[in-house]
Amino acid sequence: MNLSSTYASSSAMTEDMLLAQASALMDGVSHPIANLANLAALLWQSMPEINWCGFYLIDHGVLTLGPFCGLPACIEIPLSRGVCGTAAVSDCVRRVPNVHEFPGHIACDSASNSEIVLPIHFYGRVIGVLDIDSPKLARFDDADEAVLRKLVQCIESTCDFSQTGYSLS
Ligand code: SME
Repeated sequence: MNLSSTYASSSAMTEDMLLAQASALMDGVSHPIANLANLAALLWQSMPEINWCGFYLIDHGVLTLGPFCGLPACIEIPLSRGVCGTAAVSDCVRRVPNVHEFPGHIACDSASNSEIVLPIHFYGRVIGVLDIDSPKLARFDDADEAVLRKLVQCIESTCDFSQTGYSLS
């Protein structure tokens, strides 16, 4: 995974460092909004060549904008629409090397060219997604997906989504 040194003070941030930082930020904190806000900031500071990263959480059956970094984004995405909705409904990670070739892609930032979306689960069901966009084509590789999957597992084992009004799909 290609991580920048902007968050770590001296050397480049490794995958292990990212996961350790995420774990430290969430230590003893189960509130999903607090944790996801910090994780959006962590990803924004540590992943180069991205122009948006954040979360959509299912509220009344619609993916609703959650904590993020980047330009203002669309507030609601119906399930099965766009890369996010497709990932949520299929419960599959979606890695899109060229968003312009993805039918139904929702362009929140015209600079975006590639995207990765990972479903997040609560009690075994999809509660939302982690969405990261890049201006670079095919920005996200197997290593990125692997570490982001681990990050999502960390979220799933830490966040108590019942503390919010978010409902399961
Ligand atoms: N591109 C996403 C919409 C969300 S923005 O990228 C922040 C999609 O097609 O679902």
